Amino acid sequence: MKNSILLAASLLKNGHVVAFPTETVYGLGASIFHEKGLEAIFSLKGRAKDNPLIVHIHDLDQVFSLVKEVPEDFFLLARAFFPGPLTLILPVAPSISSLVTASLDTIAIRMPNHKIALELLKEVGDPIAAPSANISGKPSPTSFEHVTKDFSEKLPLILDGGECQVGIESTVLSLVGEPTILRPGSITLEDLEAVLGKKINAKSYSTKALCPGMKYRHYAPNAKISLFYTEKELLEGVSQNCWILTNTPLDLMSIKSNSLKMIEYSSQNIYKIFHLADKEKVDSICILIDEKTKKDQGLLNRIEKAATKI
Ligand code: TXA
Ligand code: MG
Repeated sequence: MKNSILLAASLLKNGHVVAFPTETVYGLGASIFHEKGLEAIFSLKGRAKDNPLIVHIHDLDQVFSLVKEVPEDFFLLARAFFPGPLTLILPVAPSISSLVTASLDTIAIRMPNHKIALELLKEVGDPIAAPSANISGKPSPTSFEHVTKDFSEKLPLILDGGECQVGIESTVLSLVGEPTILRPGSITLEDLEAVLGKKINAKSYSTKALCPGMKYRHYAPNAKISLFYTEKELLEGVSQNCWILTNTPLDLMSIKSNSLKMIEYSSQNIYKIFHLADKEKVDSICILIDEKTKKDQGLLNRIEKAATKI
């Protein structure tokens, strides 16, 4: 692995794009100092140019060259959660490429909690812009195989870190103005409030697309996804040959089909299930949203987005 990391670092230093594992999902990285690599990220993913990138760092000192000012809340949160699945939005320094920020006056920064990612970042030295390593709109990749499926022919190197532990993308918190969660994740509102010692804005991500990326359809497998809030509704609405995602065992005897499949789901395996459904050409996925899922804002957000038709 050491040799692959050294090779990946040298590719990144020369403006190439490399995929690497993080604790959340795999990223498609390029140095923020190479416009060529940044441009390539957008064309490889088919990503809209108005959707900014997250900048990955390995050392807190790197923040000072990326931002205009560092609010006190940043240090509180970084001390508690870095490295980890939290992205913080700060006012951007004027020198940073507008490809990274999509011409916003802010920048997204995170320090991933993954041995390979941290070693790679240290070896490169430059901060690395990295969106999730999937074609835009598709489920994020949580294994080497997922990245290979989309990009094996198109990238000089994909680092293999096995399966991602967290399984959904980082929580995105804006520290510009009132602290506001723009994308929920495994670090929760309560976790953040406990460290900041104050209330933070939470509802916005479900009502309005504050985070440019959140306005696009996301995370979706090819199958049609239907959400159900009671067992009864699901049993009535279930179609032939569909996958049923449920954490409560259901009595399927009433349904006249022997090709239904029941699967337990969580934020750790939701993208894995979506990728598998694509591979097996599943037509329809029915998801039972129980009380536990309702409380898991990150998971619920990804499921609702995947079920959105546009
Ligand atoms: O866990 C993660 O965050 C993964 C791994 C690879 O680090 N990355 C990831 O990147 O999910 P991406 O590009 O798929 O999602 C980044 C999100 C997008 O919704 C984007 O709009 C938002 O972060 N974002 C980036 N910069 C922003 C900014 N300056 N202001 C508001 N939102 C921003
Ligand atoms: Mg993404």
